[in-house]
Amino acid sequence: MTEGLNAVQNNDDQEEYWNSPAGQKWIDHQAEMDNLLSTVKDRLLEKANLQPGEHVLDIGCGTGATTLEIARQVGEGGSVIGADISDLLLSFAESRVTGAEGGALQFMKADVQTHAFAEGRFDAVTSRFGVMFFNDNIAAFRNLARALRPGGRIQFACWGPFPDNPWFTVPRDVAVARLGTPPPFPPDAPGPFAFADGARVVGLLEEAGFTDCQASTEGVDLKYTGTVEEASILGSSLGVASRIMSEFDGGPEDLAAIQAGITEGFARFKTETGLSVPASLNFFSARTPS
Ligand SMILES: C[S@@+](CC[C@H](N)C(=O)[O-])C[C@H]1O[C@@H](n2cnc3c(N)ncnc32)[C@H](O)[C@@H]1O
Repeated sequence: MTEGLNAVQNNDDQEEYWNSPAGQKWIDHQAEMDNLLSTVKDRLLEKANLQPGEHVLDIGCGTGATTLEIARQVGEGGSVIGADISDLLLSFAESRVTGAEGGALQFMKADVQTHAFAEGRFDAVTSRFGVMFFNDNIAAFRNLARALRPGGRIQFACWGPFPDNPWFTVPRDVAVARLGTPPPFPPDAPGPFAFADGARVVGLLEEAGFTDCQASTEGVDLKYTGTVEEASILGSSLGVASRIMSEFDGGPEDLAAIQAGITEGFARFKTETGLSVPASLNFFSARTPS
């Protein structure tokens, strides 16, 4: 494989962020996040329809749940590279490899916007929530198109519109009520909701040279098998409530009040086995010209 970086600007700020305590939180809560996001992984991989023997690039792989599952699906003769910008998350992902996954599996440090992957190396590129952070989306998608073989496919999952995602709106509303409203965040700026506008992303994919570009907004229930109180701690530790806490220098009393508020807000999603939180997701697919 060709190593190295090409001339496009890197995502240094993202590298710093995902190597900071924000990245560490994904490690601290890995089991719970995998639990919460497993229905997204299943829906994404069902759509990707990976075949035994295929070679896959899983981008923004984080703690590795999707990469490990892909290795099982492509099996012996197939391969997967889990690429991420964070050394912290990659070394944790590495520690989860048992050797019994089936397909050849490698975790690799790469800014996928700029990394010079060998041309035509992959049959498929996948991502669960790992593509919304590029500072140059066209450069990133061009780079990924180049890494795919002719007729190769990309399939990724992103959050849909913010108001349709109570996993985020409940913590946000509670934190705002307690601490105040943070400065507005530009809707298309790199972040979890950067690809909430499906038509915009289809345009980006087309401009980057993909064909047959499609977006579908779908409802998925996030199934969480812990208690409402545990979900509330998770919901206040990662994401928008935690950002509002930092913005306003919230203290332990604020955190306790926010967690109590989230517990109240999440109570309506309680089921016999935990929580079922409705989510709106955007799934994208496209191909490189044959
Ligand atoms: C929201 S997390 C999702 C992690 C994982 N895919 C999951 O679903 O559990 C986003 C991930 O994208 C990675 N990331 C952000 N920008 C990246 C880039 N330019 N190249 C590679 N990885 C990137 C981050 O380090 C982080 O692990």
